[in-house]
Amino acid sequence: MAKKINIGVIFGGKSGEHEVSLVSATSIIEALDKKKYNVVPVGITKTGDWLATGDPIKALKSGKIKYAKKAEVLIPARQGNFLQVGKKKIKIDIVFPVLHGTYGEDGSIQGLFEMAGIPYVGAEVLGSAIGMDKVVQKELYKNIGLNVSKYIWFFKNDWEKKGESENILRHIEKDIDYPCFVKPTNLGSSVGISKAKNKNELIKAINLAAKYDEKILAEEAVLNAREIECAVLGNENFKASIPGEVIPSGDFYDYNAKYVDGESEIVIPAKLSADVSKKVQESAIKAFEAINCKGMGRVDFLIDNKSEKIYINEINTIPGFTSISMYPKLWEQGGLSYPALLDELINLAILRFKEKQNRLSSYEPDESWYK
Ligand SMILES: Nc1ncnc2c1ncn2[C@@H]1O[C@H](COP(=O)(O)OP(=O)(O)O)[C@@H](O)[C@H]1O
Ligand SMILES: [Mg+2]
Repeated sequence: MAKKINIGVIFGGKSGEHEVSLVSATSIIEALDKKKYNVVPVGITKTGDWLATGDPIKALKSGKIKYAKKAEVLIPARQGNFLQVGKKKIKIDIVFPVLHGTYGEDGSIQGLFEMAGIPYVGAEVLGSAIGMDKVVQKELYKNIGLNVSKYIWFFKNDWEKKGESENILRHIEKDIDYPCFVKPTNLGSSVGISKAKNKNELIKAINLAAKYDEKILAEEAVLNAREIECAVLGNENFKASIPGEVIPSGDFYDYNAKYVDGESEIVIPAKLSADVSKKVQESAIKAFEAINCKGMGRVDFLIDNKSEKIYINEINTIPGFTSISMYPKLWEQGGLSYPALLDELINLAILRFKEKQNRLSSYEPDESWYK
């Protein structure tokens, strides 16, 4: 029998999506085939401490743990990677980061895995960082001819400068108009996002977004918007799932509609014409490729219900992963079960790691160089 793979599932973390991550990780740990994997659950507290002993999921779910008692940390070692817990070493062959948002989905922790020389599931440093920045990704989407809604962005610093704020407001009213969406550039789960219908609301929306980020985005609202999502899988020869639709319980898909009231609905497959469905799939793959994404990504679109115009909204490089989340559900419809999807993602991570190992990383000058 093949040797079991030690897989570190990392969850929690220093982000507004800490709680969501715990639910995703619970589903993943449950579904991983224990005949193939030794699962090492690793929790990260909201203050950034790592927990790898006992039952980290339970500990984090209790909300009582803030600091780890012992230093638990991933050590980059040349021969085999391990978590150092006090004096004990826990071996890890591969990591599955189930961390949504800041520090987990933005390239930070991916950088640590690169330094440690350890394979990990999903997007790498660059893809993760771009996938987190709503402005940088829009620029790339525009470059490859995808439709994005009209937007402008500015720094919080400028907004707070005397005289500048009036200019910014004027610019938004002239080029974007109402209703518009105001967002912190690097966040998720709809935190800090508002829809503004007049100047008063716009000022409030900008002040709110500025609490979360130094970069603020204002964009034209897609009218009569349908929320269509498409799952992409692969390192190359990317596969796109059939599109699904979210029907939010409120005016838009805000935090409450996503996680609190439980009244938003998911429809798979989305009721779209074959033509629109195909365009969504093609655009999803193009977007995935444009940001340098690897492994998995859920690409979200807004479609104007009247004109049928398709706008790309954003990509999520670590999408929600509970057993009822859109990403695994879309693949399930396509014939790939939840445990088989996990196997595939782990396999893609290992393939990618081997590919990178085979690459030259330094230049060997000849002897004369040293003289
Ligand atoms: N330009 C837009 N037009 C219409 N609705 C929007 C627009 N931008 C965002 N929304 C609404 O706000 C929600 C959250 O915005 P999104 O950019 O996806 O942020 P997050 O990363 O927090 O999910 C979307 O799912 C959608 O309901
Ligand atoms: Mg979104």
